[in-house]
Amino acid sequence: MIRRTNSFDEHISIVGLATTRPIRLDGTNDSHPLSHSPSPSIGGGAPCRPGNIGVIIAIDGPAASGKGTLGRLIAAHYGLPHLDTGLLYRAVALSLLDAGERPDDIAAATAAAQALVPDFADARLRDRQLGEAASIVAAMPGVRAALVDMQRRFACQPEGAVLDGRDIGTVICPEADAKLFVTATPEERARRRVAELRARGENVDLDAMLDDIRKRDERDGSRTIAPLRRAPDARLLDTTELDIEAAFRAALRIIESV
Ligand code: C5P
Repeated sequence: MIRRTNSFDEHISIVGLATTRPIRLDGTNDSHPLSHSPSPSIGGGAPCRPGNIGVIIAIDGPAASGKGTLGRLIAAHYGLPHLDTGLLYRAVALSLLDAGERPDDIAAATAAAQALVPDFADARLRDRQLGEAASIVAAMPGVRAALVDMQRRFACQPEGAVLDGRDIGTVICPEADAKLFVTATPEERARRRVAELRARGENVDLDAMLDDIRKRDERDGSRTIAPLRRAPDARLLDTTELDIEAAFRAALRIIESV
């Protein structure tokens, strides 16, 4: 179904970018898919079909399952723009913390989401502590409502898009052409996240990370709005025993088979 291909080396070179195409983040370009529209609402925005002929690939899964890296590689492979939607929730949490607000303050979190102009270049977005705060704000309906429309417009670009997150196949892009649910055991995910953070110079304890991951799985899976769920038509990809190259090949096989 999908035609464009690049070499594996090219895929690796874009790891670390949240999107694979230049975007304006100053909030002045209203036509940009990551700018806010006037009245976003959960479930109320229009899915892309019909009329959009681009390919949409939805990738969901729990923290540190490999979905983000796979999303970047798949986007590069097909020459599609990519959005790591977790960064949006992280950016909301960061703007709250920067303003001295608590992440469980619903009014402040909702206002921060409504005013969000994400800066994906901010390295603090990837901090371990921010994942926890992001998962707290992500359970708030007002925060999700403020972010749903910009995600859908990103998905509905004419050439298509790759989005990864927790609710892409279930809520944001139920019409996606290909859906992957990427998972791995909590122990393996904790091991990967510790290795990643240690490589960035952060000294993290494996047991503490495993606790974090379990707590986040529980919160993301049990919240009432857009909980982490495998869409009925999503294909499961368990990466526990796979390195990134093998996981990438398996993901491509799934996408090419739909
Ligand atoms: O993917 P990442 O771990 O960076 O996401 C941080 C948090 O943002 C998740 O734990 C989850 O609570 C939330 N999130 C979400 N829906 C998405 C993406 C992320 O609720 N589509």
